[in-house]
Amino acid sequence: MTTENSGKKVAVVTGATSGIGLATARLLAGQGHRVFLCARTEDGVTKTVKTLLDEGLDIDGAVADVREGADVQRFVRQAVDRFGTVDVLVNNAGRSGGGPTASIADELWYDVIATNLHSVFLMTREVLNAGGMAAKDRGRIINIASTAGKQGVVLGAPYSASKHGVVGFTKALGNELAPTGITVNAVCPGYVETPMAQRVRQGYAAAYDTSEDAILEKFQAKIPLGRYSTPEEVAGLVGYLASDAAASITSQALNVCGGLGNF
Ligand SMILES: NC(=O)c1ccc[n+]([C@@H]2O[C@H](COP(=O)([O-])OP(=O)(O)OC[C@H]3O[C@@H](n4cnc5c(N)ncnc54)[C@H](OP(=O)(O)O)[C@@H]3O)[C@@H](O)[C@H]2O)c1
Repeated sequence: MTTENSGKKVAVVTGATSGIGLATARLLAGQGHRVFLCARTEDGVTKTVKTLLDEGLDIDGAVADVREGADVQRFVRQAVDRFGTVDVLVNNAGRSGGGPTASIADELWYDVIATNLHSVFLMTREVLNAGGMAAKDRGRIINIASTAGKQGVVLGAPYSASKHGVVGFTKALGNELAPTGITVNAVCPGYVETPMAQRVRQGYAAAYDTSEDAILEKFQAKIPLGRYSTPEEVAGLVGYLASDAAASITSQALNVCGGLGNF
């Protein structure tokens, strides 16, 4: 049964059992959205939904792998069945991945692009159609890209390529949909303290034969603010872009990075 008449807007957040996605789901629900979330791990989805329900939030979710078209279709159908047509889509699910480019295996390249870029197209198309957003006169599509979607990242060619793709997709679709009342923006975090950030530091420590603490120090030294951003700081911009006040912001790629990015 749908609950289209609850008066609340419906938000879908991908990859919301950890880090930025979790903070975003919590913030959007706190702002009064009904939030339907996904991740690949059933246990993660169950625990996250329970935690957020216990906080009094209007939340549900399902297992879905954003790389898989059939999963994307099923997930959007479940979201609509549960909460009604979709007003806000946050394409957040993503993975890191890189290394010396000459040594990158096909599988790694294709998986990073599928997870970070193809997924954004698949989910967006599904939400516009089966999710009902294209039929509305207001919508919000917010893609979590990265400062690596604007600047090259050493030992991160697949990641950087995928996130540049997300920024390009955002700008093109934002222009296409501008007359419809649907805005499309990318949020570009710099370094954000999440489980992914920890895995990234492990990867660089191995590549440079040094400690994770040394990598942390090196990264922090590059950030004018002197520290990593928090998931909540990234979610804050997502929440603003989802609001009515942000109706004229579209086709943009906005950084949350403590000054790391300069465009
Ligand atoms: N942390 C940073 O410094 C940073 C900086 C710039 C941009 N970003 C971007 O921010 C986004 C979130 O990153 P994070 O740091 O919060 O990562 P995270 O802590 O690793 O969380 C990733 C989330 O995505 C889910 N996920 C991963 N692959 C998925 C798939 N194929 N289908 C569905 N769900 C999937 C994970 O759950 P399962 O594993 O259970 O599926 C998890 O819920 C990513 O797009 C990332 O590229 C992060």
